[in-house]
Amino acid sequence: MDAQLIQRAAKDILHSKKTIAFTGAGISVESGIPDFRGAQGLWEKYDPEEYAHIQAFYSNPDRVWLMLKEMFSLIMTAKPNPAHIGLAELERMGLLSSIVTQNVDGLHQAAGSKNVIEFHGTHRTLSCLKCSTKIDGTSLELEDLPPRCSRCSSLLKPDVVFFGEAIPWEAQVISLKESKSCNAVLVIGTSAVVYPAASIPYTAKEKGAIIIEINKESTPLTQEISDYLIRGSAGEILPAIVEEVKRGKGR
Ligand code: OAD
Repeated sequence: MDAQLIQRAAKDILHSKKTIAFTGAGISVESGIPDFRGAQGLWEKYDPEEYAHIQAFYSNPDRVWLMLKEMFSLIMTAKPNPAHIGLAELERMGLLSSIVTQNVDGLHQAAGSKNVIEFHGTHRTLSCLKCSTKIDGTSLELEDLPPRCSRCSSLLKPDVVFFGEAIPWEAQVISLKESKSCNAVLVIGTSAVVYPAASIPYTAKEKGAIIIEINKESTPLTQEISDYLIRGSAGEILPAIVEEVKRGKGR
């Protein structure tokens, strides 16, 4: 971990009028949820075309639920890690306006963050594909899958965005507004290759925001728009930035 870059990030956050975070699966890896494109990633094991496309869900829900079951069982027992907690602390200090997350695991909220925009939906609810009844997904019985609607017996789909589905409208509108009006973006644990989500830091950059990347490796953003990359694990870097911010505030 580069101490100078930690100091630089703390300074940028303290000087920025409005900072947002843009997070991806990497921020939850230290909570025990593997990412998608890493060596242990979900897409190494499951072909997203076969398991994460909405057409796949319609044509073979049993198979798709095999993947969802694995994902849900990890999510349901996962706890926020120091990176989630660090972001929640920045928000409480009045230094973070919102988090736009691609994650569906709810760990930002579990850590105490209030203003979380879930760009790819959530695992917490499921909707009936026929009558639109919504049910609580947090107490889903994973032994009895695929789940069916208690009202009309049709298939239930988790309210997560599958490939081929639209981004929730409200999430899109609010995140566009946040990205256009911020002065700094903390881009944490995302490969930034899935669109339209990945356009968020580009939009912010066009409006003059500083892009601070926190990742174990470089991404397309690193060369193109990031002001700097703090290389390492989010669970170590975020608490270090928060500590430095607190020191800077006291000066
Ligand atoms: P990816 O799996 O594509 O990328 C995870 C990123 O996190 C990589 O750049 C890793 O280097 C980094 N990383 C891993 N562990 C880390 C750690 N401990 N600290 C810091 N960085 C770490 O995940 P996403 O970018 O979130 O969408 O993927 C975007 C979307 O693709 C997901 O929301 C999902 C997926 O298909 C849908 O399902 C619609």
